[in-house]
Amino acid sequence: MLSYRHAFHAGGIADVHKHAVLALLLDHFRNRDKPYAVIDIYAGRGVYGLNSLEAQKRKEFEHGIAKLIARPDRLPQLKTYWAAVDAVNEAGLARYPGSPHIVRHQMRDGDDLIVNELHPADYEDLRRWAGDAPNIHVHRRNALEAIVALVPPSIRRGLVLVDPSYEIKTEYDTVPVAVSKSFAKWPQGVFAVWYPVLVEDRYVATRQKLLELIPADILQTEFDLGRRKDYDGMQSSGLWIINPPWKIEEEIDRAGLWLAKQLGQERPARHRMMWLRQSKG
Ligand SMILES: C[S@@+](CC[C@H](N)C(=O)[O-])C[C@H]1O[C@@H](n2cnc3c(N)ncnc32)[C@H](O)[C@@H]1O
Repeated sequence: MLSYRHAFHAGGIADVHKHAVLALLLDHFRNRDKPYAVIDIYAGRGVYGLNSLEAQKRKEFEHGIAKLIARPDRLPQLKTYWAAVDAVNEAGLARYPGSPHIVRHQMRDGDDLIVNELHPADYEDLRRWAGDAPNIHVHRRNALEAIVALVPPSIRRGLVLVDPSYEIKTEYDTVPVAVSKSFAKWPQGVFAVWYPVLVEDRYVATRQKLLELIPADILQTEFDLGRRKDYDGMQSSGLWIINPPWKIEEEIDRAGLWLAKQLGQERPARHRMMWLRQSKG
């Protein structure tokens, strides 16, 4: 039984960091005149209403996108991210684009988006969101098998976004194994795997497993959400990027530092980036 619903967290600081990095990865694929595919294997709903009961319960977006949307000095380099946010908010902040919508907003004819969501209600929302768009393919499968079954996509250039909730604790072990099987079938793919930093530090074992199982370059981008040091919820979150595009670390670092200056809660936010493995100089 899945109880996690992303609607409670949409537009919060962790989402802003994750989606800013996603947008930079998408820019990389769009820079060339060749089609690409994105597989969003834990897709969620597509777009989230910020006036919904769920979003209003914790108002996480007030610490995240609400602090950025109207700034006159928004970092131009994040144009793809801002464009997706602005497109669903023509008259003030009311909605937040999830990862599928950020991808959809900048797709060209010929690019492909494959989205997968297991929760029955979120899946129905996602299907409605996709409508009859010819280049969006919607699945309702367990991501742990779908990530292996759905790769490689027919367009062999692209990205898999792996954004689990880690609601089931075994996911800290099963996710890296599934990603490694998927990578083995598509070693040219770029994989971005989200993780939370919680008190138990389970993510350390996940990172170790990814490193052991996947013989590729891996870049880590991590955002400290600026909570009190004794806060017992999520303190930071990050993405491991497997096969990161050439020089993307410079783009991510610039964006991360800018976001960290604008965001934070009881403490200022912080961005940290490091290579877990880097073979190219
Ligand atoms: C963190 S949310 C996704 C947010 C989305 N990627 C975004 O950035 O807008 C994780 C989603 O995965 C779904 N989910 C959880 N376990 C799953 C599984 N085993 N297979 C597929 N989807 C799952 C949840 O219902 C939830 O909607």
